[in-house]
Amino acid sequence: MENSANVKRKRVSEDSPGRTPPSQLQQKRIKLLDSRKQLPIWQRQKDIRDALRDHDVLILSGETGSGKSTQVPQFLLDQPWCRFPGKIAVTQPRRVAAISLARRVAEEMGTPLGSSSPASKVGYSVRFDESTSPSTRIKFLTEGMLLQEMLRDASLRQYSCVVVDEVHERSVNIDLILGFLRQLQTRRKGLKVVVMSATADVGSLRRFFAARLPEYAQPDQKTTSDRSQEDDALETDANDASWHGFSDEDSHDSGSDIATCHVEGRQYPVVTQYLDTPTEDTIEASLHRIFQIHCKEPTPGDLLVFMTGQETIQSLQKLIEEYALGLTADYPRMLVLPLFAALPQAAQQQIFQPTPRNSRKVILTTNIAETSVTVPGVRFVVDTGKAKVKQFRNRLGLDSLLVKQISQSSADQRKGRAGREAAGQCYRLYTEEAYKSLDKDNTPEVLRCDLSQAVLTMKARGVGDVLAFPFLTPPPKEAMEKALLQLLELGALDEHGKISPIGRKIARLPLTPALGRVIIEAATPEMDCLVEAIDTVACLSVEHIFLAIDTEEGREKAQVARRQLLRRQGDHLTYLAAVQAYAAEPSDRRRWAEDHMISHRAMQSVMDVRKQLTAQCRQAKLLQKQEAHPAADEATQERIVKCFLRGFSANVARVCPDGSYKTFAGNQTVAIHPSSVLFGRKGEAILYNQFVYTNKAYARDVSVVQLRWLEEALQ
Ligand code: CDP
Repeated sequence: MENSANVKRKRVSEDSPGRTPPSQLQQKRIKLLDSRKQLPIWQRQKDIRDALRDHDVLILSGETGSGKSTQVPQFLLDQPWCRFPGKIAVTQPRRVAAISLARRVAEEMGTPLGSSSPASKVGYSVRFDESTSPSTRIKFLTEGMLLQEMLRDASLRQYSCVVVDEVHERSVNIDLILGFLRQLQTRRKGLKVVVMSATADVGSLRRFFAARLPEYAQPDQKTTSDRSQEDDALETDANDASWHGFSDEDSHDSGSDIATCHVEGRQYPVVTQYLDTPTEDTIEASLHRIFQIHCKEPTPGDLLVFMTGQETIQSLQKLIEEYALGLTADYPRMLVLPLFAALPQAAQQQIFQPTPRNSRKVILTTNIAETSVTVPGVRFVVDTGKAKVKQFRNRLGLDSLLVKQISQSSADQRKGRAGREAAGQCYRLYTEEAYKSLDKDNTPEVLRCDLSQAVLTMKARGVGDVLAFPFLTPPPKEAMEKALLQLLELGALDEHGKISPIGRKIARLPLTPALGRVIIEAATPEMDCLVEAIDTVACLSVEHIFLAIDTEEGREKAQVARRQLLRRQGDHLTYLAAVQAYAAEPSDRRRWAEDHMISHRAMQSVMDVRKQLTAQCRQAKLLQKQEAHPAADEATQERIVKCFLRGFSANVARVCPDGSYKTFAGNQTVAIHPSSVLFGRKGEAILYNQFVYTNKAYARDVSVVQLRWLEEALQ
């Protein structure tokens, strides 16, 4: 209770435009108008309006920071074609960007934000958090949320325009949205589509939108409220395209439907420095470089450091804070701010606050800040040249997170962050030769990831022949077939490849099909452990709740501190115990988290997700009057693990005589990750949620299972 009140209070203060008196909103609007007029895109507003008056598709390229995301929707709002139905959707790859853009645009328009006022014109919708009003005209939403909206209304009838931002990222969701919009435009005339990219490579997009698609059957004309659960999302299989990608040869550039526009960026020069010799230890190298900049560079300006993920960011943060204690008062204070996707919203928003006097912000970020988020005040960039990416591993038949070299185009984007407001410096923690050997561009996600979620998304929206879907880059046929097989194993598709009732339920949950399957299984009367499954899944959706420990001594200390939470059956039940104990804590949760060496921030995120997932399960009538079972109930614990096995039956490894584990799928050796409570223990077989490959193959989020449970799960 205490926590939900807290969350609410925080939200309201975050959504500050909602509480600001109208006169102040207007003052702020007028103040911001000057800076809007300075943006490179301001000069092009007439071109952009004209382009969309005359064409249905606009491909807009322009440097990050040129004003695309904030200005384009505002330029279009008063256009005659935009009056009815009237809304503009702007998709974003990340929650943090969607929320901060909505806040910024609300301020620029002098309107309250989101649900804070019924008169608010700008809102946002991200996974587990929707903030809109009846008057919303511009809605920033994550790609996943737009795909969810398409489940309820495949024709997107409330929108006059859909803006797809950051298409250069080429996530699976972006490619799906482009395919759906491409199809939708053939049957919903007048729908405007703006595709925006930070890179100038518009050729393939142009060809994609120009290529001729076969005519589709008209969707049924029922309104959303008329549609039954079964027929919503199903526009019948008639809208399948017999369309197999495109190439230069087969594209028909009609020219008249597509406009392109390039906005020159405003970029100050950035000096690049490379290492002379390569380094393996990027944390050490970053630490060294950060202090060198901080102590030797008289120029004021904040630092932006690109790291791989939450763990490396947190380790580096700890080190910087320790070393900073040794600095004399002559130096500005170092304000270290982490930025990664799993960070709770309030903490993410801190990076946008102005730097206090006599301080220097040191922002440690994942590739979130590469193009998606513009952080003001940055003059120095430190680039480790690496990022954590999802990659499909054929032998294992699943996605794993790999630390990989970034592409040249990513490296250039990172560098560009230093020259937004003045001349800057970029320190690449790799050699110039290494830079030259990087791939030129990022590989589209459809070519390297598990496609089961994408295929389920398509099936739920009535695409019968997914192999014929118009993809900007068609994924390999085998990958699609593998995804179909996985969905069949999960029971999400029937043997004819049609979506099953279970599949439809899974598609409505904002989870991967495997995690969705866990939830559905847990809701069955036999399993009866939905409340517990939600808690555990909420925990898995946040990167790590246990603070990372790198010393033997620290590990022993953590063992003692977390004693009451650790479960010999494995991580899933340990997470559950942690969530239940945290939620039951009557007073000081921050203190509780510290005492148990758990990240309070991560737990706040878990609570957010838990609340939303519970609401969604209630809405889907999966959760009726269920209550949590008493914590010590062994039978329930076994059922919870069995539910995970139903969703992750492909992620099982059995123990070998020499004590190592071998995966069932692919027969690959895998070790239990040191962060697991099962590290150093043995069981007949293990189930894992994540496969990570660093110096060797590790299973993360692991539980012990019995082989006969696996047989049961697959029956
Ligand atoms: O989309 P693009 O990268 O071209 O630019 P944008 O996101 O529209 O940002 C334009 C400018 O708006 C930035 O340079 C910032 O000055 C400001 N902005 C902001 O203050 N807060 C945000 N959340 C987003 C943008």
